[in-house]
Amino acid sequence: MALSLVRMVRLALVGLVAFTSTVSALPAPPVHRSTVLAPDADPFYQPPAGFASEAPGTILSQRDITAAFFGLIPIDVEAYQLLYRTTAVNGSAIATVTTVFKPKNAKLDRFVSFATAYDSSATKCQPSYAYQLGAPQDSLIASVELLIIEIYLALGYTVASPDYEGPEAAFGPGRLAGMGVLDGIRAVGSFKTLGLDDNPMVVGMGYSGGAIATGWAASLQPKYASELNIKGWVQGGTPSNVTGTMYQLDNTAFSGLLPPAIAGLSKSTAYGAELAPFISKIMTADGQKILDSTLSECATSNLLAFFERSIFETSFQTMGEDFIFDPIVQSVLKQNSMATNKDETPTVPTFVYHATNDEVIPYADAEKMVNSWCDWGANVKFTTYASGGHATTEIIAILDVIDFVKDAFAGTTKSGCTENTELVSILNPIALGVQLEPILVKLVDALFNLGEQDSKVKSDPVGVLSTNL
Ligand SMILES: *[C@@H]1O[C@H](CO)[C@@H](O)[C@H](O)[C@H]1NC(C)=O
Ligand SMILES: *[C@@H]1O[C@H](CO)[C@@H](O)[C@H](O)[C@H]1NC(C)=O
Repeated sequence: MALSLVRMVRLALVGLVAFTSTVSALPAPPVHRSTVLAPDADPFYQPPAGFASEAPGTILSQRDITAAFFGLIPIDVEAYQLLYRTTAVNGSAIATVTTVFKPKNAKLDRFVSFATAYDSSATKCQPSYAYQLGAPQDSLIASVELLIIEIYLALGYTVASPDYEGPEAAFGPGRLAGMGVLDGIRAVGSFKTLGLDDNPMVVGMGYSGGAIATGWAASLQPKYASELNIKGWVQGGTPSNVTGTMYQLDNTAFSGLLPPAIAGLSKSTAYGAELAPFISKIMTADGQKILDSTLSECATSNLLAFFERSIFETSFQTMGEDFIFDPIVQSVLKQNSMATNKDETPTVPTFVYHATNDEVIPYADAEKMVNSWCDWGANVKFTTYASGGHATTEIIAILDVIDFVKDAFAGTTKSGCTENTELVSILNPIALGVQLEPILVKLVDALFNLGEQDSKVKSDPVGVLSTNL
């Protein structure tokens, strides 16, 4: 779920510097913000009449966009957005958008699906909005993970990044996100303008909130989208068990991720029919105000609005500790735990990685997910990072992820389940060759700014937040 705030902010700053020097970016022309419309005001996001009868993954409309880092620095790639048909939790048809970046000299037999961690239940935080030149950067995580996307573009992969939370931006419901990823892959694979081979190979990835989407895509793919040519999945810092994640986040620097998740799970595209009436009945006035604010604010604001607070306080909702034992809540939590059904086991090579000391998403839950999947015949490479926290591990793991992606496309990953522990806590800046050195140097800087095992986040989150915002 959480990418640390420090990581977002530090990377946003270093990223600006990194990409002015490494990407052949043109000086940004003056941009009129009014020309880039927020999703709620942009007719592109509205599906045409009759779209519900189209198959999941059908492209409903398309456009070219000017993609930009942080809304400011145009990226020198072709970029498109596709509105496509996907499916709500209750099976009804909905439409969402994916953004596709195609570098020069792209390999045409493959692409990467990158689920960015936007961790928000406000539609203005959809990555498809943040990726456009001139868009305000309310969704810093998406902006920052664009740095990682840039590495894949530089390596010759076309990258697609879907608005997997769907048209209402529902943060939390994994099944919705998983179908959003899979239908996004269908849409991109059939988008002729890219010149891709028929049924191209795909590796899907995501970290933290992005691993909710990726883990569920991996789980649902054998049943929901078995025709896709998926070669591998990569999921790091995976919130595999929502209950465990909730307890770990509650009353911490990251408790602000919980209200948008409650709001997201309560949307009509998720579990709204059962959950929304129950939630609105139990919220206090203050609690309702916090939930309402998550409908219009992105992750950074949400974190500050519910900093070190508990969702079990009776000042937030009237049931207190009993809240979680309500049968409606229990049913929603259960449906959002990965690795509870054998027929939802990934069938292609999957790389799962997690820091032992992850302070945001529990390690033990991810390990349990891996064990269940392995018992059920999955092919999982499970790497434990012994020296990082939640934010640092996304950066430390980058080189291992790139290797896995290469092997997965080549079909040379090991079969069966394997486990290893990594002790590294540094990145080698020339590991990807001199061409990518400047990007890795900036990521090394970011690691330094986070401290050993996120120590600077853990020791002084308030200070870090207030200095950086
Ligand atoms: C999820 O976590 C909760 C709380 O730690 C636990 O009771 C439950 O059994 C877990 N579910 C699964 C499927 O592991
Ligand atoms: C099913 O989900 C849609 C949103 O996609 C919602 O509008 C509709 O009310 C839901 N139907 C039921 C019966 O919950």
